[in-house]
Amino acid sequence: MKFTIFSTLASILAVSSVASAAGPYPKAPGLQYLYTVNITGGEPALVGPGPRGFRISVPIVKGAFSGPKLKGTVLPIGGDWALIDNNGTVVQDVRQTFKTDDGAIIQVFETGSTQPGRDGSEAWVRLTYETGSEKYYWLNSVVAIGILRLVSNSDLTIDTWMMTAP
Ligand SMILES: *[C@@H]1O[C@H](CO)[C@@H](O)[C@H](O)[C@H]1NC(C)=O
Ligand SMILES: *[C@@H]1O[C@H](CO)[C@@H](O)[C@H](O)[C@H]1NC(C)=O
Repeated sequence: MKFTIFSTLASILAVSSVASAAGPYPKAPGLQYLYTVNITGGEPALVGPGPRGFRISVPIVKGAFSGPKLKGTVLPIGGDWALIDNNGTVVQDVRQTFKTDDGAIIQVFETGSTQPGRDGSEAWVRLTYETGSEKYYWLNSVVAIGILRLVSNSDLTIDTWMMTAP
């Protein structure tokens, strides 16, 4: 048993030392600006300190987004089911519903969290999209990230980018 643990540890160490010595690294993918969205939240519901942390559920009241390839409004269908863990990290679990200015509906799924050592009013987020619109169908397969910033108690803004080929 001891030997198994030791050899497992040794192989983990070997792998990590090889990985840190390896190079050159693969070329990094790029990021292309997608849009900025402003969102106004409603009255938060304090679910409280459950088994997974302190849950706060906040409805989305309204919003607007604008970027080079899409713009429109945020419908009042969605919210953030945020969880504050025991270490003070705020973990987002967000649904947004976008309506583009040409009438398409886009469902937005967003997760992410505040980052250690950074301002607690900022979170780094991952986004995925779902739509049946032919025009915006490309959103179904993008890999997107964003930076969320609280601008007041009820308002926030999220700048988003999508990954591009290396
Ligand atoms: C978001 O809010 C900022 C600051 O008020 C504003 O300049 C920008 O035009 C807004 N964006 C949209 C899409 O409404
Ligand atoms: C809590 O967060 C700090 C950074 O802010 C980190 O160094 C520490 O490991 C975290 N503790 C736990 C138990 O996650």
